[in-house]
Amino acid sequence: MGSNNMEIMSKQWPEGNIQKVCMIGAGYVGALTAIALASKNPSVQFSVVDKDASLITAWNSDHIPIFEPGLEDILFEDGQVQEKALCVLSHGYEGRRRRLANVTFSADINTHISDANIIFICVDTPSEVSFPDSDEIRGLNLKNLESAIKSIAQLSTGHKVIVQKSTAPSGICQWIKKTLKDAALPTASFDIISSPEFLAQGNAMQDLLNPNRVVIGYEPAADGAVPESVKALIRLYTPWVPQEQVVTTDTWSSELAKIASNALIAQRISSINSLSAVCEATGASVTELSRIAGLDPRIGPQCLRAGFGFGGSCLRKDVCCLIYLARELGLDDVAEYWRGVIQINDCQSTRITKRIMSFLPSDVAGTEIKAAILGFSFKKNTTDIRNTTAIKLVRDLVGHGLRVNVFDPHVPRQRIEKALMLQCGAAHVNTAVVESTEASCEGCSVVVLHTDWDEFVGRSVDWKDIVVRMREPRLFLGPPGLFAVYKMKQYGFTVLEVGKP
Ligand SMILES: NC(=O)c1ccc[n+]([C@@H]2O[C@H](COP(=O)([O-])OP(=O)(O)OC[C@H]3O[C@@H](n4cnc5c(N)ncnc54)[C@H](O)[C@@H]3O)[C@@H](O)[C@H]2O)c1
Repeated sequence: MGSNNMEIMSKQWPEGNIQKVCMIGAGYVGALTAIALASKNPSVQFSVVDKDASLITAWNSDHIPIFEPGLEDILFEDGQVQEKALCVLSHGYEGRRRRLANVTFSADINTHISDANIIFICVDTPSEVSFPDSDEIRGLNLKNLESAIKSIAQLSTGHKVIVQKSTAPSGICQWIKKTLKDAALPTASFDIISSPEFLAQGNAMQDLLNPNRVVIGYEPAADGAVPESVKALIRLYTPWVPQEQVVTTDTWSSELAKIASNALIAQRISSINSLSAVCEATGASVTELSRIAGLDPRIGPQCLRAGFGFGGSCLRKDVCCLIYLARELGLDDVAEYWRGVIQINDCQSTRITKRIMSFLPSDVAGTEIKAAILGFSFKKNTTDIRNTTAIKLVRDLVGHGLRVNVFDPHVPRQRIEKALMLQCGAAHVNTAVVESTEASCEGCSVVVLHTDWDEFVGRSVDWKDIVVRMREPRLFLGPPGLFAVYKMKQYGFTVLEVGKP
């Protein structure tokens, strides 16, 4: 679509509010964005479609498939209901009453694509590599995105606005434009807008309801006028997002800014984790480093918390996108620079495991030494386990001959078992998923606090009682600043904090 075409198509877009919006993909981005937008635009109808019918059934049930703080409060009149209370309610109970009449979840993809004026692409675009510690950096798997675009091409008549939210290489909007132009019916026309999503899992509803920016990238018309389609998209956000936080830019900058933002976050995490290694080898404390360096506004305190490294579906993928792009552009030095960010991340759990092993006998074979991993999700307040650093930790520990118990208070047992089976190979027989903190620590020599769920920190656990049921050296390791080191030592633990000597 050239800029002249864009002008013609923009004229085709009816002025006034959008009536029907369709999100393709009922995952974190599609479903949560629809819910947030629906709560602020009661006169607009949002439909969320997905090829996974069981996911849609779950969204339409009383047990929604995604855990995010604040989500159930927006969706249900009874808000966050505890599991047990829900079981009691479900006896002769006809379903929880929903708050939002203007958002629906459906597996009828075709109907909703056909009906929509505006379509958000929110499908998953996984990295081609499946193991987090693989050295190989390859591109993203775009088959879901391709299939979504194919459906739009086949089903569209009249004018539609396509909002690209999935993580994808720079230039994807150009590709979507060309593909639709080649494959769609002659009666169809499209405006393509890049609007990357910046939500962070565990804080997604806050991020969506109080975004620090909404980025909208488009090709301006020849006269520089803002197309009607862009104005219509902006109108979805202006009921509550201050105008100055709606950032409009060109498509390329919008696409690359998303990758750059996540790469910069990943770089900070790797930077502080690289320094945590220096702290452990000297007398310095990484908490002090973060406190002192973070006071400089040019550095800032965010993302300066040492730990097991970054996980989840986004940061690694975006850094890989950047590496891939740099290589394609022949910018090998740039690619190597960002590759270092991934390498530090991959090394962190190996380094932590090595530190743990230095407290255990050099030959653990046949000794039945056990470790407990507390928390399996990649971070607190999400049950997502994609690329969780816990899996690498488990792999490294079983690789050294330990048996490993895993407990997460929120991630369903079957999902953890499946991940262990897929990613630990034959060694998964040396792992067990258990149902409580106490059961996971029973008879263990090592406890690793991986995810800082509330259930593990503060007064939630009787560590005094647990330590007596553990074996020497009763090692307790976790990120710095999460637990009372002095008390834990008094109870009898040997305490290690990441980034502290
Ligand atoms: N999760 C995050 O925090 C986050 C943040 C920003 C951007 N992103 C990006 O947004 C995209 C979606 O992420 P997510 O976490 O919501 O993924 P997800 O895996 O939770 O959800 C994607 C959904 O899309 C569905 N899907 C795939 N192809 C489809 C098709 N052709 N038709 C209908 N449904 C289809 C899948 O069944 C799946 O349920 C990814 O590219 C991701 O990198 C994610």
